[in-house]
Amino acid sequence: MTITTCPPVLNPRLAWKKNDWSPSDYTVDLSPAAVEEIREFMKTEGDKYDHRTCGADSFHDKTIALLACRSEIEEIESRFLKSGPGFVVINALSPDDFSLAQLKVVMACVCGNFGNGLVAQDTHGEVVKEVADRGLPFDPASSKYSDSNRGGNYHTDGTELPIPIRYFPLYCVRPAARGGVSKLVSSYTIHNRLQDDDLNSLQRLYRPFYWDRRSRVGPNGERTIEKPVFEYDKDLKCRYQRLFIELGYKLANQSVEQDVSRALDAMDRHLYDDALAMDIPLRAGQVLVCNNSFTLHGRSEFQDAPGQPRLYLRGWVADTIAA
Ligand SMILES: [Fe+2]
Repeated sequence: MTITTCPPVLNPRLAWKKNDWSPSDYTVDLSPAAVEEIREFMKTEGDKYDHRTCGADSFHDKTIALLACRSEIEEIESRFLKSGPGFVVINALSPDDFSLAQLKVVMACVCGNFGNGLVAQDTHGEVVKEVADRGLPFDPASSKYSDSNRGGNYHTDGTELPIPIRYFPLYCVRPAARGGVSKLVSSYTIHNRLQDDDLNSLQRLYRPFYWDRRSRVGPNGERTIEKPVFEYDKDLKCRYQRLFIELGYKLANQSVEQDVSRALDAMDRHLYDDALAMDIPLRAGQVLVCNNSFTLHGRSEFQDAPGQPRLYLRGWVADTIAA
């Protein structure tokens, strides 16, 4: 079987490492016109939508009709997300002026203008999820890392889905008292390094693995899905969540062969090299949007101040509108 691998990418906008960018390189303001447009929308329409499922149907049609916002988001997408660096921080609306339910609608107004809009993140149709430490005991097989205060664990989002997640926006409502900084790594940089030092593992990463589908079982009750870590079609597509691959092999009753563990180890060797990860601390009101193929993300562990828990809102923009 011939595998088409991504050629080495020397473009520093795509293949970057820690400290190659400073905040002024990747931070933009939403213009006063776009902010005003969203405020006006919130006054007239904001309370008409279920904040859990906004982003679908008529809501999507109305948000893409926010023309100032739409054109700015399209420019941001083209300038930062499609051509590199693959992430952007947007100074958006202050969370102080809205209730939590309204903030979810605000986030859907801004981020619903990326690509085909936001898609459901669970089987209940929720499109904007709260990310906070819920203080529950953490069990890798059943818990979500995003519901804890843990750090580490570089991954891409939505690996359990049959359709890829293109962009992954995070709106900071309240940062942690300590830690909780987002950390990003370029998938092109990882790929370049593997091309240099372990071509066999890189080629294995282009072949399918078993992945845990989590709660998204297949149409015939399938609990695993088979897909590769890397694909290449004009640009690089990367999906990665080692835990879900390891759980996938268990669920499929397959032993983890040596070439599989060697390829995952090679991936992690570069992914967890501290020279690569860019730290992105967020202030309240900022939205970090990542290209979910060009970057892998993690975060540092965090501690909350009493009564002031770190709270982020997370969206998913998929390659198709169907979830
Ligand atoms: Fe994530």
